[in-house]
Amino acid sequence: MDACVAAIGTDESTLALWALRYMHSPKAVNGLIQAYQKSNDPALKKQILQTVARLYHKEAPYDASWWWSTRPDTHGPYYKAITWESSPAIKTFLTQEWKKSSDKQAYADLNAKLRLGISEFGGEEVAAVKEEPKVDLEKIKNKKGQVGESSIEDVMLAIAQLKGDPSKGKTLFTNQGCIACHSLSKTEPMKGPFMGQIGSIMTREQIAESILKPNASISQGFSTVMITAKGKKSYMGFVTEENPTRVIMRDITGTVYTIKTSDILSRKEMENSMMPSGLANALSYEEFASLVTFLSQQKK
Ligand code: HEC
Repeated sequence: MDACVAAIGTDESTLALWALRYMHSPKAVNGLIQAYQKSNDPALKKQILQTVARLYHKEAPYDASWWWSTRPDTHGPYYKAITWESSPAIKTFLTQEWKKSSDKQAYADLNAKLRLGISEFGGEEVAAVKEEPKVDLEKIKNKKGQVGESSIEDVMLAIAQLKGDPSKGKTLFTNQGCIACHSLSKTEPMKGPFMGQIGSIMTREQIAESILKPNASISQGFSTVMITAKGKKSYMGFVTEENPTRVIMRDITGTVYTIKTSDILSRKEMENSMMPSGLANALSYEEFASLVTFLSQQKK
C-alpha cells in the first residue's frame, strides 16, 4: 500500500491506482486524497478522483445467508455495496471537489457508473417502464392436471425419469405465465430472477422445487417487500430496480409499480415469495419435465 501511494504521479501511476482501487483502508484513502491535493496535473487528478470514488463502497462480506442470485447485473463495481470506515471522509472529499468543479457532469457520470447514491451529484438513470401484455395467473393456477393432483415428492420422482421436450418447455414458459415475472434474454426488461442462465446455477431438481414450492427458498434480492407510501397506499411485491429516487416493483400478478422514494413511509421484508405456487398445476408430468428441462438448458 505504501509503495502504491508513493507511486502516484510517477511512471507507475496507472498501475498503482489500479491496485489502490482494491485497498479499502483509511491509509490508502488518505494517501490518495493527499496526492490529489498536491497534484496540478488535471489528468492525474481525474484518475485519483475516480479511484477514491470507487473506494466509497465495498463489497458486503459473504455470510452465506444470501447469494448473488440470477439478476443480470453487470453494473459494477460491487454486487452488495456497503459503506465502511472511510466512506464519510470520501463523501466529504467528493462533495467539496464537486462544489468547486466546473465539470459537474463528470460527477453525475461517476455517481451513475459507480452507483454512489450521492443524489446531489445527479446522473441516476431514469427507467422506462414499458407496457406489457397482461397474464391471467389466477386462471392458470385454478386448472388441475397431473402435477396439481400429486404430491411434490411424486412429481419429483416422476420427472427424474422423464426428459421431456425442451421446445415444448419453451412454449409452456409463456403459457404458464412465467414470462410475466421472468425474462430469458438480457435485452428484455428486468423482472424477477433471470432465467437466461438458470441452468448454470440450479440443477433440474432445484428448478423443479423452486416452481413447486416457491416459499422453500427465496432468491437473494427478490424477497417480498411491503411498502407503505403517502396517500394511504401500500404495495407488496419484489423489487426489480431501485435507485435513490424511486423503487420499481412487481406484485404477485406481475403488475409493475413505480414508487417515489420520497413518498415511502415504511418498508418491511416479508418471509413469503412473490412467486405464486400452483402455476404448474395444470401440467402433466411429461409437460412439467419439458418445462424443467428447457430451463435447465438455459446456460451461459
Ligand atoms: C408473479 C411473478 C412470478 C411468476 C408469474 C413466476 N415467478 Fe418464478 N419467481 C418469482 C420471484 C419473485 C422469485 C424469487 C423469489 C423466490 O425465490 O421465490 C422467483 C423465483 C423463481 C425460480 C428460482 C430462481 C432462483 O434464482 O432462485 C425459478 C426457477 C422460477 N421462479 C421459475 C418460474 C417458472 C418456471 C414460472 C412459470 C411456471 C414462474 N417462475 C412464474 C416471481 C414469479
